[in-house]
Amino acid sequence: MRKIPGPPPESILFGNIKTLLTEEDSYVKWIQKYGNIVKFYGIFNQTSILVADTKIIQDMTLNHVYDFIKPPNLLADAILIAGRGLVLAEGEEHKRQRKMMNPAFAHNNVKEMVPTFIRVASTLIGLIEDKVNSGESNINLTPYISKATLDVIGLAGFNYEFNSLTSSNELAEAYNALFNSPNPTLRFISTVLANYIPFFREIPIKMNRDFKNACAIINRVSKKLMEEKYNEAKNGELKSKDLLSLLININMALPDEEKITNDELQYQIMTFLIAGHETTSSTTLWCLYSLAHYPHEQDLLREELVKAFPDKSKFNPTFDEINSLEYLNCIVKETLRIYSPAPVVGRTNVEDKVFGEYLIPKNTTIRIALLALHKSPEIWGPTANEFDPKRWLDPSVTKNVTNLNYLPFLTGTRSCIGNKFALTEFKILLSMLIRNFVFKPTEGFEFKKRTMGVSKPSPYLALTVSKVEC
Ligand code: HEM
Repeated sequence: MRKIPGPPPESILFGNIKTLLTEEDSYVKWIQKYGNIVKFYGIFNQTSILVADTKIIQDMTLNHVYDFIKPPNLLADAILIAGRGLVLAEGEEHKRQRKMMNPAFAHNNVKEMVPTFIRVASTLIGLIEDKVNSGESNINLTPYISKATLDVIGLAGFNYEFNSLTSSNELAEAYNALFNSPNPTLRFISTVLANYIPFFREIPIKMNRDFKNACAIINRVSKKLMEEKYNEAKNGELKSKDLLSLLININMALPDEEKITNDELQYQIMTFLIAGHETTSSTTLWCLYSLAHYPHEQDLLREELVKAFPDKSKFNPTFDEINSLEYLNCIVKETLRIYSPAPVVGRTNVEDKVFGEYLIPKNTTIRIALLALHKSPEIWGPTANEFDPKRWLDPSVTKNVTNLNYLPFLTGTRSCIGNKFALTEFKILLSMLIRNFVFKPTEGFEFKKRTMGVSKPSPYLALTVSKVEC
């Protein structure tokens, strides 16, 4: 790997981590500077690889997917929090879980979740409206959107009323303690320590007590949810249409060898929460930010929405109606292109591999640079870095787009199982927001793009909001 080009290490202990944490889109810049296979340095100066080569990505996501596992040295905390649900399962275990879970995420089931998405979005609209009516127009949108997507995944994922938009509850607080620490740097350091020092979480310090307490709450609440479902299932098939109920129904009907265990079912609760909450909320925030800065695009979207839903108080689209809106679709695709919530995904090769002319020894951390592909001028032309939804209507652009160079949900065997769910939820939230409000940049407000797994505006996104009168 010595010959692979890339940035020199900046520190003996932390390699290039500081740049990754503090500079926007470092991965994209490295690919643009050094080529499609780049070497950089992680914690303790560990050599890591970044790839944006579509052939290699095909190998990693499709042809030899199980030769590339999730990096074990990054998962200690994640496993304590979520267990080995679909995101963290590997090999045969993953294959069994995925096969069993796929039907729950099919179109027909997502269609039935639309009223839930609309219900939460209506509460969100009401709250923002109250704020605007009270004379506040510069609004910190991050907590609103984040709570809305938490409420959605609670209801549609496992029929759980977080009601976080309007109240607090222990599961939401436990989740926040783990993922929305007031001190993200300290949280990052403790996660690294937990990953590298076995039993770190056993050290009796406050940080670890809080961590364990939050995990215990998650475990207790998920167990209770499971027990309730199983009690209900004694009387036959579960009637609720949330993902967990669907999974329990599917599992009950399977032969023993294809079933997933009760523990595995329970792990999916936290898995849905982690995989499906911040991803959708950050996409919505980035989209509002983009539309605020491209008012013409915002107007075009609103025109489409007004035409489709002339009376905003009767906004009640079906799955097919919302998916038939062409410009909305372009805006969604464009947001996911330049603001992919997961700008990279990490893997470790379990065998030696050859990437181009380089030998990559086994157990190397490899990152697939999704966002670098999404911003490649070779694919998207000279405007690759610009928010331009119309590009999705141009056949000379779309003919070059494949599921290996546009992959916000990854691609292949481990691609996002929740993509239809996420796209529908995002479209409903966005449509209701744009149909009801006008978003403009707030003068003097500045933020940075920060990526800790998911990329989001940091410390938050504020925009100036006014009401659409009719
Ligand atoms: C805009 C929103 C979303 C984006 C951009 C997104 C993106 C992704 C990506 C890139 C992966 C692959 C991660 C990896 O392999 O390292 C993934 C996996 C996954 N996502 Fe999503 N996701 C979104 C929303 C959701 C939602 C709403 C759910 C659940 C309801 C969900 C559930 C999952 C699960 C369970 C996996 C693991 C799949 C597997 O390994 O087989 N995601 N997602």
